[in-house]
Parts: sequence; structure tokens; C-alpha cells
Amino acid sequence: MSEDGNKQVVAIASDHGGYEMKTALKEELSSLGYAVLDLGTDSPDSVDYPDFAHALAEAVAQGKAGRGVLVCGSGIGVSITANRHSGIRAALCHNAETARLSRQHNDANVLALGERIIGMDVARECLKVFLETEFEGGRHARRVAKIG
Ligand code: RB5
Repeated sequence: MSEDGNKQVVAIASDHGGYEMKTALKEELSSLGYAVLDLGTDSPDSVDYPDFAHALAEAVAQGKAGRGVLVCGSGIGVSITANRHSGIRAALCHNAETARLSRQHNDANVLALGERIIGMDVARECLKVFLETEFEGGRHARRVAKIG
């Protein structure tokens, strides 16, 4: 992982629509050697995704975790919510290529996934690529700075 925050801690959160995928990705993170900060939800019962996406974005923005992973049914609601926070660049990814580019070009610090959109194997692949790919900097650093 790169320069930001606490490098070994990855925060993860979901709503009910992403609960099963969150559970699987939590196990994957542990097996990859990361400490996991699980911010819920803690059951498949219906909840409101902004509550969990805001909590995760705050944890990453405050440096409690170096990176974050958010899952909802589509990945859309959690990414929209997280991107309201200053310093958060949440990328909604659907495959390894978008996960790779989100790091190389956008220095994304939050990975957003849709449990109803992609399969578990693709999600695990996105996670691994997201965590292992460095930001390229250079012209991309100038563009990321312009995001504000
Ligand atoms: C919940 O049904 C669903 O709306 C939510 O998980 C997410 O897809 C919202 O963007």
C-alpha cells in the first residue's frame, strides 16, 4: 500500500445489499495480512447505505484506516455518499482493470463494489488489485489535485 494514513488497516462497510460480499471480503483481507476495521452493517437486515458509507469515509479521512472498501447492491449509493467527503476518492469498480486504473490514475482511497452486479471472485480480484497497485503520480497527480 502507498503513502496514506495507517497502511495496514483497511476499513470495510456495507448495507444489507452488500452484506454477504462484505463478509467474504473481510475474510480475504485478513488472509492477505491486513487489519480490518469493520464498520458494519452486522446482519442482512435492511439498513440505509449512507449511514455506513459516511462512517467509512470519516474513518479513512481521519486516518483510522489507509484505505476503505464499501459494498452495497449496486455500489452506486455508497460511492456517491463517500465522495461527499473531503479527501475521499471512492471508485466504483467492476473488474480488475477499473480497480487498477482507479489506483494508477486517480489515487482512489476507497473501493466501491456492487454485490448485485459482480460476482465474488471478481470482487476478490478487484480488492487485491486495488490494494497492491500504486498511484503513478506525474500528470495524474496534477489532475487529482484539480479535483479539489
Ligand atoms: C438497497 O436495496 C440498494 O438500494 C442499495 O444497496 C444500493 O444499491 C444503493 O445504491
